[in-house]
Amino acid sequence: MPLLIAFKGKSGFSARNTAEDVTKGIDGHGLTAIITEPTSGIGLETARVLALRGVHVVMAARNVEAAAKCKETIIKSCPSATIDVMKLELRSLKSVTNFANEYISMGLPLNILICNAGVTAPPFSLSKDGSESRFATNYLGHFHLTNLLLDTMKNTAKICRREGRIVLVSSEVHRLTYKGGIIGIIYGLFKHLQKNISQGASTTCYLALNPKVKGVSGEYFADNNVAKPSGYAKDAELAKKLWECGHFHLTNLLLDTMKNTAKNWRREGRIVLVSSEVHRLTYKGGIIGMFSLFLYNSFYAYGQSKLANTLHAKELTRRLKEEGADITINALHPGITETSLSRHSNFMSSNHNFFHLGFSKTGASTTCYLALNPKVKGVSGEYFADNNMAKPSSNAKDAELAKKLWECGMELTKSKSTRQV
Ligand SMILES: NC(=O)c1ccc[n+]([C@@H]2O[C@H](COP(=O)([O-])OP(=O)(O)OC[C@H]3O[C@@H](n4cnc5c(N)ncnc54)[C@H](OP(=O)(O)O)[C@@H]3O)[C@@H](O)[C@H]2O)c1
Repeated sequence: MPLLIAFKGKSGFSARNTAEDVTKGIDGHGLTAIITEPTSGIGLETARVLALRGVHVVMAARNVEAAAKCKETIIKSCPSATIDVMKLELRSLKSVTNFANEYISMGLPLNILICNAGVTAPPFSLSKDGSESRFATNYLGHFHLTNLLLDTMKNTAKICRREGRIVLVSSEVHRLTYKGGIIGIIYGLFKHLQKNISQGASTTCYLALNPKVKGVSGEYFADNNVAKPSGYAKDAELAKKLWECGHFHLTNLLLDTMKNTAKNWRREGRIVLVSSEVHRLTYKGGIIGMFSLFLYNSFYAYGQSKLANTLHAKELTRRLKEEGADITINALHPGITETSLSRHSNFMSSNHNFFHLGFSKTGASTTCYLALNPKVKGVSGEYFADNNMAKPSSNAKDAELAKKLWECGMELTKSKSTRQV
């Protein structure tokens, strides 16, 4: 079913235009593009259309067999297509580093980087590097990939005398996110209050040995004094439920030994749990993933990862402009598109007819518009939808937040950012 109402924007295109429409007449020969996860949906159509326009497409996929099949399908419809397949698992920073190393060692140029891969609502899980899975796939993996390939893009832009383009597939859902935009960023704010290691260990040692806390139990301490914990931390019912979930394995196993030691030595045993002030910042309900899985807000987690894409575009634009590099980076919403993206979401799957109105053909158009169309030459750090520039959320325009997210991304990828693994 085609879109019923679609107004043309300044670009001359509307939501109704396809990826072929927005790249019509554009010669992509001599250009090389990486597309993350082009084995289905929008990524696959993007790969097909770029290849159709003569671009050398490198399919970066976690399932290389599926990607090889997609390559064959594209070549059948477009025999002159130049396509390579390479392995990339965005949830693993090591895999991203390996991909970048291999790509660089092949000596290939890179004009266009399309960060397309994305997950919406899989059950809560952590990536191999310990980040929430949506944040890891949709943002952190792409952040790391972009950083590792930036020099190659800069060199290519210089040699080809043609602007490099980074395209980040974000979403309108970037508007629905945690209060403040991105959680976990806050840690950066506290950096100036940081203690040295010896100061950091003081409250632990105070609780372990100091006679002043004899008999004190079940309390929360900070800076060597009793402190007021959060409301959730005082909730006895929540504490009981968490206990029933069977955690504290080590403590439980050693408890008898501690009891006996205390009896024999006639000296109080002490268990010291190193918590954090960050215990105040949790999901609604206090603890997620144990007895109330639904309290983990997967929509917000998705929104946050997509907000991170828009902030990535903003901050990298600032940095590239400072250097005078000939590379643009923009984020986009592809439109509600019939793909398998909602497979993890009960809500979206059960409302399939509402969410998938048959707009599949147009889903790759804004990506391809940003990748190839000369109308966006020099445009960077912006948000696009329906083949036109669009207004993002206020969080997405927050330069300070973008900077903090960058620092946070650097911190999270630091140990893996060297090219040797
Ligand atoms: N469809 C929409 O209505 C819509 C709306 C707004 C934004 N978007 C965005 O558009 C982009 C493309 O999505 P789509 O709709 O085309 O969905 P899709 O068909 O599900 O494609 C997403 C692709 O990302 C891949 N992927 C997931 N986790 C990955 C990982 N850890 N490493 C590498 N690849 C991974 C998936 O691979 P597997 O198949 O192996 O899981 C899949 O091929 C996403 O960024 C999505 O957030 C889509």
